[in-house]
Amino acid sequence: MKIREMTSDDIGSVVDIDTASFSMKWSGAEFENELSKDFARYFVAVENDEVIGFAGEWCVCGTADIEKIAVASEKRRSGAGSALLCSLIDGARQSGCNEVMLEVRAGNTAARNMYEKHGFAEIGRRKGYYDNGEDAVIMRLALDGVTEV
Ligand SMILES: CC(C)(COP(=O)(O)OP(=O)(O)OC[C@H]1O[C@@H](n2cnc3c(N)ncnc32)[C@H](O)[C@@H]1OP(=O)(O)O)[C@@H](O)C(=O)NCCC(=O)NCCS
Repeated sequence: MKIREMTSDDIGSVVDIDTASFSMKWSGAEFENELSKDFARYFVAVENDEVIGFAGEWCVCGTADIEKIAVASEKRRSGAGSALLCSLIDGARQSGCNEVMLEVRAGNTAARNMYEKHGFAEIGRRKGYYDNGEDAVIMRLALDGVTEV
């Protein structure tokens, strides 16, 4: 499995994984639009030439915000999510960000465990943020050694 930057050619596979993973799904055109933003960075995880996961972030004013991260259901629990997350964190450092932020459903144990394993800490909640009334947990990772912006 390797991680590389997402290209337009990956979008068909990425939409399939996104549709299977999220209730708030994006179209191919929305992913195309994301790839055109100079402050956005998207990666794919590839195994045997097959896209098995993707992740993206926006880096704005010293803060990286994770937009999406997902792995095909049959490929989970093999390290792809962690590898994608590490690429986002490295990318945030390279862009000079001093923190990485995200929102996750309170009941999403798999994702919350993954973020905690990589050093993210809960810093707040948005009550009833999601369509089903579920809270959003706000998590943050401080990036050491980077000057405050
Ligand atoms: C969250 C997600 C990306 C993790 O991807 P993954 O490839 O399975 O993650 P990894 O194999 O790298 O696992 C990393 C850690 O996450 C945690 N984790 C992953 N799946 C878990 C599960 N089903 N239950 C509990 N913890 C889990 C564990 O701490 C794991 O470390 P370990 O294997 O050493 O115990 C994947 O479950 C997914 O695509 N979920 C649907 C989309 C989603 O919810 N995205 C996050 C939105 S905020």
